[in-house]
Amino acid sequence: MPVPSEPASHGETSDSSMASRRTGRRRVRVSQRRAKPTRYRIARTEELPTGTSLKFTMPLHGVDEECFIVNFGGTFHAYVNRCCHIPLAMDWVDNQFFTADGNYLLCQTHNACYEPESGECVAGPPGTPGKFLRKIPLEVRNGIIYAAPQHE
Ligand code: FES
Repeated sequence: MPVPSEPASHGETSDSSMASRRTGRRRVRVSQRRAKPTRYRIARTEELPTGTSLKFTMPLHGVDEECFIVNFGGTFHAYVNRCCHIPLAMDWVDNQFFTADGNYLLCQTHNACYEPESGECVAGPPGTPGKFLRKIPLEVRNGIIYAAPQHE
């Protein structure tokens, strides 16, 4: 049963802190603004049982990208929804990414198969095996899955 698509939300932004220190006799206040990496809430863990997937959209390098997350054997993995063969969305049938046996991710256009853990193409049209889907780093905190892109 397909899981409905839902957009990522709740991008969290940086905070600032004030720090002070003593140098000799003079007390110097130093304002520090440290940017925390932005992260995006995708879903609660219980919304993604093993063998299911969910599409979401998030900005990557200033462009909204359609991505998807899968629960493979109890571990979550997320990728940009773009095949390495031709840059098309992989789910011809909306939100269907797993092969029938649940062991691989499948691009339904020309049947490229990818390892769910690494995103490596292991079978498919010439030139595609050995290439990787673009992985989205994830964090799970307090039962919530966040996408945490490193270079945003
Ligand atoms: S577009 Fe994905 S296998 Fe061809």
